[in-house]
Parts: sequence; structure tokens; C-alpha cells
Amino acid sequence: MFPLDTLPAALRQAQPLLWHNPGLRPAAAALTASGHGRAEIEAAIARWQRFAPLLARLFPDSVAADGRIDSPLLSQSDEHGKPLWVKADHALPITACIKARGGVYEVLCHAEELALAAGLLHAGDNYALLADAPAHALFAQHRILVGSTGNLGYSVGVMARALGLGVEVHMSHDAKEWKKQRLRALGATVVEHAGDYALAVAAARNNAAADARAYFIDDESSLLLFFGYAAAAWDLAPQLAAAGLRPTPEQPLRVYLPCGVGGAPGGVAFGLKCLFGDAVQCVLVEPVASPCFLLRLATGDDALSVYDIGLDNRTVADGLAVPRASATVAGIVGPLIDAVITVSDASLLAEVRQQWQQHGLRLEPSAAAGFVAHQLASEQWPGDIIPVVWTTGGNGLPDEVFLPLLAE
Ligand SMILES: Cc1ncc(COP(=O)(O)O)c(C=O)c1O
Repeated sequence: MFPLDTLPAALRQAQPLLWHNPGLRPAAAALTASGHGRAEIEAAIARWQRFAPLLARLFPDSVAADGRIDSPLLSQSDEHGKPLWVKADHALPITACIKARGGVYEVLCHAEELALAAGLLHAGDNYALLADAPAHALFAQHRILVGSTGNLGYSVGVMARALGLGVEVHMSHDAKEWKKQRLRALGATVVEHAGDYALAVAAARNNAAADARAYFIDDESSLLLFFGYAAAAWDLAPQLAAAGLRPTPEQPLRVYLPCGVGGAPGGVAFGLKCLFGDAVQCVLVEPVASPCFLLRLATGDDALSVYDIGLDNRTVADGLAVPRASATVAGIVGPLIDAVITVSDASLLAEVRQQWQQHGLRLEPSAAAGFVAHQLASEQWPGDIIPVVWTTGGNGLPDEVFLPLLAE
């Protein structure tokens, strides 16, 4: 058992902290040792491309005619007047959050599998036919279950319902009411739990096991989610090049990724290390009350939760309110994570306000974490870097939810 009293005091006292990962390894060696690689990401990219005509057909208002699900790379200046780049997944088409990259993707994987098995789809077909009545009738006989703090459930729900699949989303007590209502409006079943995210995921897993026509999307250990997220690196690379940015180990990218269970930031980090190697630093950002990934990396113990070190996992960053990191993701990307930074709720809310007032970005608190982390890193870990803040959700926040956040 790891001696918990050797953990940084700031971690146990819920104080903001920059933690350098002593387990970081050179990217090439860590990628080889992970047993995974580019081929899985390229398969995900190819699948996204196959589905592009369907996405354009199903979501004509939010998805461009080319059917791509991507967000812009925005430019800002940081508080020292230096360039700061923003990968704006808070404005991602369809769901306005990063979880679409995994959640929508895994629904598409399942739909493809069902349609191929039923003989409704063949190699080379235009996947837009999956919006036709026969496919809809097939999908209506199946359902998808997922546990979520909100955004994964919505991403899965919106895609699954558009195809005609049934959806049951198990939500933790952190999940915001408006996120539940939005799901119900799609025709999803929402099961509310008084417990935390880990309990909601377990409940969804149990229910799915009892139903032969149910498919469980496992936020804690799905590799399909992981490689769906990883494909994001392939979207970022040409945007950086177009902005004239060429990261090198001497002047690396430093990418700040808000982290809950670890799937989304871990997947993106994996993709980035595949493309940029040691010319990218991947920094996860967690709330001070929920630093589950830091805890996992520091101790190597998959079973530990933030409760075990006296933290309460209560945070305004609902998407990041996760007590225990994904063992699967930590096992793959642990040696690829350069550092973890923890941030306070007050700083997240201040940044939500600032980004709205100064840049017109509508962010949820989780999505503002990268900006706060960059401020802390600028003081404690300066360097010749190209900083990229990944904004992971928020454009879908209705006024009645967003405006009160500005007053907090
Ligand atoms: C807005 C937002 N950002 C970041 C994350 C973190 O993703 P993960 O839980 O896969 O680490 C989430 C998760 O739901 C989220 O909703």
C-alpha cells in the first residue's frame, strides 16, 4: 500500500498544485510499451469519415456539409500578453463538448456493427442510408446504457436517439438538472442516483448486463471512447500548421486538458504524443476536490479514490467530479502525462466570467480549467512553450444556467 502521508500536503488539503509526473517517459518508449498506437487512431479517423455523410444528413443545422465533427483553434493573449491558443471543443458540433468525440463515436461503432450484422450495410455503401426507415427500425430494437456526470450521457443520447436507438443514462448527483431535462427531451430514460459518478457507471453496467439487446458504453474502460478522443490530435495538427506553429522539443506545445475519469484527456494526450512525440507536454487539470488522476499517477494504485485522502469530490466542475481514475486509461497514458495541475472552484468561476466578458466564450466551469492551470504554470513552470488550452464544453449552456454562473 502506498504511504499516503507522503503525498503532497497541498493535494490532501485541497489546495491548488502543480505536480510533475515522475513516471513520465520519452514518448516513443512509452507509446511502444502501451501496446497501442497509430493504427487504432487511424481506424477511428476512417470510421469518422465513413459516417460523415450520415452526420451531415442527421444534423444539418450543426454539422457542416463535409460531416466533420471538429472545433476551431482560436487565438488569445495570456495575462502576460503572450500568445495562447484555445482548442474550442466547447463549441463542437452536435453536443458542444469534448465528450462527443468519444460518445458519438462509440454509438457510431455500435450502429455500424448492428447494421453490418443485419445485412443492412455493406462495405463501400454511403452511410447516409443509416438514417433510412429500415435502419431506424433495426436500431429501435436495441438500446444503449451509459453512466455519466452529464456530458457523455448527452453525447451518447443525442447520437443514439437520432439513429432511433433507445438510451438509458445513469446520472450521478453532480449532474445538473438542465442536462437531465435535455436528455429526457430527446426521449432518453434518465436514472438519477444519489451517489457519485462511480456508482452511476456501476448501475448502468449492471442494468445492461441483464438485457441481451443492451450495449453498455463504459466511460471507465472503453478503448473505443479512448481512440475516438485520440483522433482529435489529427484535427489539431493541421490547425497548428496553418497558424505557423511548429512544435519542437526545444519549444514544445503545452496542452492543458480538463480531466475527470481520464478518457477524454488521456485519449487526446495519447493522440498528441503519437503525432508530436516529445514536442508536446500533456498537462491534465483537475479540481482540488477531485484530483483522481493525480492520485492514481502518484500512487500507482487503481483502487484508491479521492475520498481515501480526505477529499469530498464536491466541485462546481460537474464534468470533472470523479472520485477514481480510469485504470485502463491510466495504464496506457500514465507515462505520457507530463504534469497534473489542480485548480479551485473559485478560480474556475472567475475564469468562466473572464472568458465570457473578454472573449465571448461560453464555458462551463470544467472547461475553464485549462486557463487557470496556464496561469499557475506560467509562474511555477515557465518556459519557451506554445500553450494550448482545451475548452471542453459549455456552448450549449442555456442562459438561465449560464448567467447565474457569472454572478457566483
Ligand atoms: C466539460 C468536460 N470537460 C472534461 C471532461 C473530462 O473527461 P473525462 O471524464 O473523460 O476525463 C468532462 C467529462 O465529462 C466534461 O464534461
